[in-house]
Amino acid sequence: MGVIARYREHLPVGPATPDVDLNEGSTPLVPSRNIGRTLGLSRLYFKYEGLNPTGSFKDRGMVVAVAKALESGSRVFMCASTGNTSASMAAYAARTGVRAIVVVPSGEIALNKLSQALMYGAKVVALKGNFDFALETVRDLTSHYSVALMNSVNPHRIAGQKTAAFEIVDELGDAPDYLMLPVGNAGNITAYWKGFREYHAAGRATRLPRMVGAQAEGAAPIVTGSPVPNPKTVASAIRIGNPASWEGATSARDESGGMIAAVTDTEILSAQIRLAGSEGLFAEPASAAPLALLFRLVRERKIDKDATTVVVLTGSGLKDPDAALKNVEPPIELDGDARTLAKVLKL
Ligand code: F0G
Repeated sequence: MGVIARYREHLPVGPATPDVDLNEGSTPLVPSRNIGRTLGLSRLYFKYEGLNPTGSFKDRGMVVAVAKALESGSRVFMCASTGNTSASMAAYAARTGVRAIVVVPSGEIALNKLSQALMYGAKVVALKGNFDFALETVRDLTSHYSVALMNSVNPHRIAGQKTAAFEIVDELGDAPDYLMLPVGNAGNITAYWKGFREYHAAGRATRLPRMVGAQAEGAAPIVTGSPVPNPKTVASAIRIGNPASWEGATSARDESGGMIAAVTDTEILSAQIRLAGSEGLFAEPASAAPLALLFRLVRERKIDKDATTVVVLTGSGLKDPDAALKNVEPPIELDGDARTLAKVLKL
């Protein structure tokens, strides 16, 4: 079952909306086995969004945006992307038989994300400049041509993405105390906050979480309070200097009594390795940013140890192995038999 079928009554869909799904959503909420214990946190969970059909949370919003665009008669979809949005849009366009055009910042996106968009048959334009310029260009073009804009400025994307908040409440029986996630273009933090508020208003949760967002230090406009002209970070998914949903993010932060803070690339990569090596969860660098922030909050004693904390792992580590592999030992090259192998392994 996809998110439209599962949460139909909470989504802007009706009898005229076509059925679209790739069985997205319903991702595992994995309790921490080791990191929580080491930090002294009794209730730490990871929402593993990398298990969505195209490997990131983007599928939740994309399925709704695609269904609504088809309902209104669109036959050409377009987006700007740091990689995951383009992979997702291209997949749903392929599935529904419409044209997909993706605009990515040239040389700035992970190869596996690019390969997804190409395999799903999208027309891929690698535009000189950064993501912010790509989005500006796509917004300009889609306002003049009959091409559907599929970035998260499209409210149907936010509507679909809020279902992740519903799933967390449905599984925990209430909202967590802290919801931690990476912030790039800021659509997802906006969507989660909307989801938690809607469920709370509907009586499905008795409380609201504090929303805690993580940006990368070289791409932290919301933290510093002004756009970053040349954003830089190893976490290419959130290499964004002027987020489209800036206000949504600051409202989520302020209304929930949460925070948005920056972490360094070194902290991100070490959190990524620790997550993979101690929990068996391989997430992409952007997804490790909130975990890096959690480590810091625990060090600074800024988090209540009995609190229920959910860290959203937004995308699969398989999206961007190059970024991860720089920090692990390479394989052992060996030409030999079981005895030499045992010797090399010091068994
Ligand atoms: N994590 C991953 C893996 C992402 O791909 C993104 C955004 C984010 C976090 C941040 O989410 O933008 O809603 O604040 N990726 C977009 C893209 C920009 O084009 O794929 P956000």
